[in-house]
Amino acid sequence: MASPVQYSIEDRLGVIRIDNPPVNALSHAVRQGLFDAINKAQDDDIDAVLILCEGRTWVAGADITEFGKPPKEPFLPDLLDTIEQSAKPVVSALHGTALGGGFELALASHYRCALRSAKVGLPEVKLGLLPGAGGTQRLPRIVGIKTAIEMMTSGAPVPAAMAQQARVIDELFDDDLEKSAKAFAESVAGKGPRKSSERDVDPLPDAEADAIRAEVARRARGVEAPLAIVETALAAGSTSFEEGMAIEREAFMRLMASDQSKALRHIFFAEREAAKILDLPKDTPHRDVARVGIIGAGTMGGGIAMSFANAGFAVTLVDVNDDALERGLSTIDRNYGISVKKGKLSEDDAQSRRALIEGTTQFEDLAEVDLVIEAVFENLELKQDIFKKLDATCKKGAILATNTSYQDVDAIAAVTKRPEDVIGLHFFSPANIMKLLEVVRAEKTADDVLATCMALAKKIRKIPVMSGVCYGFIGNRMLSGYGREAQLCLIEGSSPADVDSALETFGMAMGPLAVFDLAGIDVGYKARQGLPEDERGDERAYRVADVLVEGGRLGQKTGAGFYRYDTETRKRESDPGVQEVIEREAKSLGVERRSIDADEIVQRTVYALINEGMDILNEGIAQRPGDIDIVYVYGYGFPAWRGGPMHYADTVGLPAVLASIEKFAAEHGEENWKPSPLLKQLVEDCKTLADWATERG
Ligand code: 3HC
Repeated sequence: MASPVQYSIEDRLGVIRIDNPPVNALSHAVRQGLFDAINKAQDDDIDAVLILCEGRTWVAGADITEFGKPPKEPFLPDLLDTIEQSAKPVVSALHGTALGGGFELALASHYRCALRSAKVGLPEVKLGLLPGAGGTQRLPRIVGIKTAIEMMTSGAPVPAAMAQQARVIDELFDDDLEKSAKAFAESVAGKGPRKSSERDVDPLPDAEADAIRAEVARRARGVEAPLAIVETALAAGSTSFEEGMAIEREAFMRLMASDQSKALRHIFFAEREAAKILDLPKDTPHRDVARVGIIGAGTMGGGIAMSFANAGFAVTLVDVNDDALERGLSTIDRNYGISVKKGKLSEDDAQSRRALIEGTTQFEDLAEVDLVIEAVFENLELKQDIFKKLDATCKKGAILATNTSYQDVDAIAAVTKRPEDVIGLHFFSPANIMKLLEVVRAEKTADDVLATCMALAKKIRKIPVMSGVCYGFIGNRMLSGYGREAQLCLIEGSSPADVDSALETFGMAMGPLAVFDLAGIDVGYKARQGLPEDERGDERAYRVADVLVEGGRLGQKTGAGFYRYDTETRKRESDPGVQEVIEREAKSLGVERRSIDADEIVQRTVYALINEGMDILNEGIAQRPGDIDIVYVYGYGFPAWRGGPMHYADTVGLPAVLASIEKFAAEHGEENWKPSPLLKQLVEDCKTLADWATERG
């Protein structure tokens, strides 16, 4: 097989070209090719060595698919050391994204030039790792320890111009990278090698180091990699380069073997896999979408409108009511204003995005849109009514989408004469910020409609996950058992703060009761009222919420719910009045309260999620366990470093999860705890969910 690395002598330069699509990752073959080329260059009569990459990007990192497998020589740190020791000056010429090991390759080179459009960064932290090929030791020697720690703990890519200011990049070009880089390489040839590892770096004063440690620990919330980055980078100021490299190696290997890094690597691949629909041919055509209509100018409709406008789509925002439309448009104005104030968006960009959104009260204005998304409140008849009108109004071939969180998309499609054009696009609030998009494939949704929506999600910078039709789709369906157990723990003995802090310590962005307060406890209350009494679930679980709502405590919007809220800061506080309600209702329900520890709270809530997730997989509602993990990490604040609920189930071990669920069934009744047939089957077969997913392809 041809090597992905080619070496040739062009004029008086040894030119190394890396060609390993799609992102030129440093696979074993690339490392071997680079090693051979740099050694060969030492014997050639050349002035300098120039490294270039083919394709859309410079090297985007080590090859993550090789992680966890037995490592093969040449190891990356050794290869980069060989490059740095080259007697001929080595120049890296960057384009696209120079990330992780790719950026470390550039740092080990003696000189760096780049296209102005390039970005550089060390995103290893997002994989639960630290830079493991000298990045923690070379970068501080170039930009200083503090800046290096900021770059490595955030993992965010930095534009080339900023990198030039920080003296990471020597020269920038607007175009024709190869020609300009060759000229640059000739110009530095006479200067000889310049080794990052030999530069001096000032150590940070102890007080500053301690302040950084404290701040990074606060932000890391249980994640190990950022703290390891800090210690390793600080070592650059107090040890030799060789000692620093040994410290980096030890930390890198330790993190690589950690459950956290395995979980974050799982999330990296699961996110990319979720975009792929197993039974959809690769060449499925896409429909053109340029103009988007949105019905409902409320919080959700407005957020969806902003998501599309931010990506350059023309948006027609419809609300039947003048006042509601005005309110919606001014909320959009306010949101753009806040982004400008925070420096996240320029005034010009805000204006041009806002100009793409046109408000109207006329349904007929939707006649020419390519995609319409209905975002009115949750009522099946209302939605069906709207879809009948859309069927009559929209042009042939327009995609008709509903943003429903719960309603039956098949029943909505059925009122149109074109059910193949109907799909669910379930955004999460605030829609302009939250990354998750559940794409709900109804029974008759056409393949090209589904393919178009999955691709469109990426264009508006969302992460799409396909769900089949069921009550609540993937995310909200799983939430019901989770919320039930959180509230049962309340009535059985916990306080709201006990429940939420147990789950926040586990890593959830926000505890479930605080989330109910944020969303409004009345939402669930109203939904329950709409159901016949025998379908409302376990009364012990929702009694406290009902009493709170009936007492006017709807959550944050009324300043009180499961907690009391400070009117200015919105900070939550425990409320003795709520505790009284809990104790009184427990008594009236005949529940004897007891002390419940944090482990039980976490197991009952998270295992309820897992069990429902298993049923969702068994029924084919979700394609893969990883899809469910993506839904929970990006839509519900599940800690990415635990890999999402399904990956977490494998980490705990399915036999242990099943044993706990069976124990809960014995203690609390089978009504709430019926082990999923898939869970039982996998335990019987001694398989993990990852095995199950691999077998299904
Ligand atoms: N290794 C292996 N495969 C990779 C990869 C990597 N480092 N980076 C991306 N890929 C794969 C993706 O899995 C995807 O595969 P698929 O087509 O089969 O799904 C394909 O390349 C394209 O990736 P994206 O869909 O993400 O393409 P985008 O154009 O949207 O983004 C990117 C490109 C910005 C480079 C993005 O892929 C990315 O952020 N990659 C990860 C970068 C990274 O984390 N680098 C550090 C790796 S760890 C490391 O280097 C350790 C070192 O310090 C020792």
